[in-house]
Amino acid sequence: MQVCITEKELKEYIAAAKKAGKSIGFVPTMGALHKGHISLIEESKKQCKFTVCSVFVNPNQFNDKKDLERYPRQPEKDTELLKKAGCDLLFMPTEKDIYPKPYTRKFSFGKLDQVLEGKHRPGHFNGVAQVVSRLFELVEPDKAFFGLKDYQQLLVIKDLVKQLKLKIEIVGCAILRDEENLALSSRNALLTEEEYDEATFIPIWMDEVKKLSTRYKASQIKARIETLVAQRDKMKLDYFEICDAETLESIKNFEDAENGSVALIAVHVGKIRLIDNVIL
Ligand code: PAF
Repeated sequence: MQVCITEKELKEYIAAAKKAGKSIGFVPTMGALHKGHISLIEESKKQCKFTVCSVFVNPNQFNDKKDLERYPRQPEKDTELLKKAGCDLLFMPTEKDIYPKPYTRKFSFGKLDQVLEGKHRPGHFNGVAQVVSRLFELVEPDKAFFGLKDYQQLLVIKDLVKQLKLKIEIVGCAILRDEENLALSSRNALLTEEEYDEATFIPIWMDEVKKLSTRYKASQIKARIETLVAQRDKMKLDYFEICDAETLESIKNFEDAENGSVALIAVHVGKIRLIDNVIL
């Protein structure tokens, strides 16, 4: 595996791979890699001949400075994991390499980034769009791979690619879960044992949502989950919504969803904010 930091080195490696006729698969990450990220690398390797992974904790997408400071960083371990996974090129830029000048471009995604994460983390998706558009400009991949755990992010990035008229296929990959069914996240490593036990209620509730969705109205299920979360002392709900799976408009009745539906949750467990979703 080659490792590079600068735009110049990155472009040289990518040009060589393209010259050799290889298709480029790209997995952008913020590091602190876990099996979920590795499954994206594996999918990229299945679909493309040359896999690039970036590790960059993007300050522009953190609206909470404490969250940015707390975000786990483990560059050496990440490098080893990627080597083992058979990644071809690791791009580990510094902030100056990604943003040589302050990047102030504003993106607009209509209602898509005004709800859920967008509502609770103002500016978050603009920061994601800034770094992803910059990374796409540098890597110029044929395909890019994102986890379905960040469901809203996946929709925003699909919209970004359309807006910028890029010829990049965005591939959404299944959520990976641990032995207790908790969705894998770099943030899980920050949970205490007690908080972890609390967090395992999230997948239990999401399973319940799936079961209830065949018999109850979306609004009734929402009320039920809000009650269950309110009963947990160590948890604070940011949102639980059942939405149209493409527009993310929240629905009261399943018949109102023209594109199928998805249930999404964001909860603080102690100081750690976790998200999960289930397609219904
Ligand atoms: O999903 C993430 O880890 C980040 O939001 C991404 C896409 C790497 C952009 O910083």
